[in-house]
Amino acid sequence: MKNNLQLIASLLLLQTRRVRDPAVKKALGGMLERVNAVATVHRRLFQSEDVAMFDLAAFAHDLADDALGAADRGDVKISLDAQAVQVPAALAAPLALVINELLLDAIAHGFPPGRGGLIKLGVTHSRRGVRIEVTDNGVGMAVEPSSGPESVGLGLTIVDLLAQQLRAEVTRSDAGPGVSTVLELPVDGVS
Ligand SMILES: Nc1ncnc2c1ncn2[C@@H]1O[C@H](COP(=O)(O)OP(=O)(O)O)[C@@H](O)[C@H]1O
Ligand SMILES: [Mg+2]
Repeated sequence: MKNNLQLIASLLLLQTRRVRDPAVKKALGGMLERVNAVATVHRRLFQSEDVAMFDLAAFAHDLADDALGAADRGDVKISLDAQAVQVPAALAAPLALVINELLLDAIAHGFPPGRGGLIKLGVTHSRRGVRIEVTDNGVGMAVEPSSGPESVGLGLTIVDLLAQQLRAEVTRSDAGPGVSTVLELPVDGVS
């Protein structure tokens, strides 16, 4: 599985290098990052002794490192507030994708070049199961999103679709400054 993901990542990279159109390059680069996020998950799952459950906090740590490494932004920090939360392995890939999208958005949109800041990544127990929070103190969402489907990009669409699949509730709010997204995820038997 892990090698297959690396193969897909290599194919995407080859294609990305051949493309000239900046929009297409950006789209392919985004897909490459998503495949890499899933690959990170599989690396972790293979390393862990328990194959049925994984520790979401350890995971979140890796994803934060990867996101900052890919962005190459020394002026953006991620503070991780994580409790050890054991989650079924089947949820690993969708959760990694969601956290990855939110981190990349916070870095790319919250902190345009020249503006650094802090992203809080929270992974904690909640009444229903697990609470995942990504809050940045960046420039914030445009107050009036130009109406039309273009105002919601692919990233947020992916977050909403995966949240639905996970039966999670997503709340986006103005963190004044910045943006806050909270996912409440019902997980049976979480420990
Ligand atoms: N953390 C954030 N801070 C500021 N703006 C954001 C943030 N997250 C998302 N946005 C805004 O929402 C838009 C849609 O995000 P998204 O669906 O991920 O598409 P994309 O990242 O491809 O532009 C972004 O273009 C950006 O304007
Ligand atoms: Mg995005």
